[in-house]
Amino acid sequence: MTPNSEGVRTWLYRSKFTSFKTQDEIYEMARRFVQKNQRLGLSGFLISNGDAVMQLLEGDELKVGPLKQEILDDDRHTEIISEVWTIESKRAYPRWAMRVVSREEYETLFKEIESAKIETIATNIARMIFDITFDES
Ligand SMILES: Cc1cc2nc3c(=O)[nH]c(=O)nc-3n(C[C@H](O)[C@H](O)[C@H](O)COP(=O)(O)O)c2cc1C
Repeated sequence: MTPNSEGVRTWLYRSKFTSFKTQDEIYEMARRFVQKNQRLGLSGFLISNGDAVMQLLEGDELKVGPLKQEILDDDRHTEIISEVWTIESKRAYPRWAMRVVSREEYETLFKEIESAKIETIATNIARMIFDITFDES
């Protein structure tokens, strides 16, 4: 991670996979995301139940911006709703190039965020919109 006096660009969105994905398929897809995120110095998490997706992506403004556009254009998912596009003072998930968790594991994820005292606007909103993201799908 490069020192960044201007803060951490953070994007939180939700969407729906175009076709249902098993947890294994999601992990398989995400292996490529992790590699690229490591290369770009990005971090975050992706929660999915195979249908709905919630992803938080954070890092350098100049890296998050172009990747956001690629993700918006990606036809593997649809109904993309941007929830947070902000500059945070720190990363919510510095140690993970992309932590992929199933819907059932999300409590563990949020507990880790809480116990590390790295709550940000984006992680708080993620928690708030969790139910509408996953219970409706
Ligand atoms: C739900 C979803 C989440 C994604 N998350 C990431 C991500 O965190 N990092 C990433 O590099 N690509 C992600 N992608 C893939 C990008 O849209 C794009 O296909 C990829 O970055 C292109 O990689 P390439 O430059 O190696 O061709 C995601 C795609 C989807 C559908």
